[in-house]
Amino acid sequence: METALLKPGSETYARASEILSSGGLVAFPTETVYGLGANALDSEAVLSVFAAKGRPADNPLIVHIHDQAQLEPLCILPKGARELMDAFWPGPLTILCEKKPAVPDVVTAGLPTVAVRMPSHPVARDLLRACGLPIAAPSANSSGRPSPTTAAHVLEDMNGKIPLIIDGGMCDVGVESTVLDLCHGDPVVLRPGGITPGMISKVLECEVKVAGSVLRPLRENETALSPGMRYKHYAPHAVVTLVEGPEDRVVPLLRKLYQQQAAEGVKSCVLCFTEHVSALSGCHPHDIGSSSDPSEIAHRLFDILRKLDEEGMEAVFSEVIPPEGVGLAVMNRLGRAAAFRTLQA
Ligand code: TXA
Ligand code: MG
Repeated sequence: METALLKPGSETYARASEILSSGGLVAFPTETVYGLGANALDSEAVLSVFAAKGRPADNPLIVHIHDQAQLEPLCILPKGARELMDAFWPGPLTILCEKKPAVPDVVTAGLPTVAVRMPSHPVARDLLRACGLPIAAPSANSSGRPSPTTAAHVLEDMNGKIPLIIDGGMCDVGVESTVLDLCHGDPVVLRPGGITPGMISKVLECEVKVAGSVLRPLRENETALSPGMRYKHYAPHAVVTLVEGPEDRVVPLLRKLYQQQAAEGVKSCVLCFTEHVSALSGCHPHDIGSSSDPSEIAHRLFDILRKLDEEGMEAVFSEVIPPEGVGLAVMNRLGRAAAFRTLQA
């Protein structure tokens, strides 16, 4: 199959709508990462999303909508959902709701809940309006690779597998949406993203929990509240190690670790803050952004993880940021890329 890469525009949306309404797949930008979309009401189309990604069938998809009226036939809103939708939609917040029968079981992997979100990216919005369908879309990467934040990333993974990628440039947020469970008692963030627990807590005026496995590996026998958390994710081929501790000890340790590996002929690099690039020159530094700007780090992270593979890196040592605000989303993705392997400086 030939994969077309088209700029957004009315002709592109017409072509995309035609593909989606006839059961095909279209990759499109959202404010978080690129999505791989199918008509959420068409089981066959949704099955082909799993096939194109190589995604396990027990990992459910998020349904994307253009306006809240589209939710009525799809789901029943839990308490607090409307307030959060009014506060944060369109935007990077996904909410689990009780599923209605119109949503095919393949979308939710048989779960009684369906994840819904209204993206804010203008291209995603135009596409959703043009096609008039609820669109089931996971991130448009091959399963196990970092999520795509550019059309070029999507092409790397999906070339020849899907008919169309809409190129809307680099995604703004850079990490996937916050996934929030309101269906099982107290609100729980299953996956941290651009909408932080603090922001949610302010609107709901109650405590918001964060799933334990966000910052550590899932324990044996522990059930994943969100099936996606079971899988190894965001993993570059390199062995990634996180280095934490006071700044004056982290930088020398990063240098030492790099030099040890390099001396053994292991292709290595460090991921460091902008502020430390010059101190780590000679250690193949990759600038992840300023330590004072977690949103910038989120924006760059997946592109950097993909570059590590392109460069054939075998060992990577990375700085960490406090897991607060958007930093929680960064440390969740970086932690999982490192399988939570951490050294104390
Ligand atoms: O920002 C995003 O959310 C992007 C863009 C394209 O919208 N999408 C995305 O989809 O990241 P995906 O499929 O890569 O991640 C969806 C996550 C998975 O971890 C999945 O397990 C979880 O949401 N999820 C979906 N439906 C669920 C449900 N009913 N219950 C629990 N977790 C669910
Ligand atoms: Mg994904």
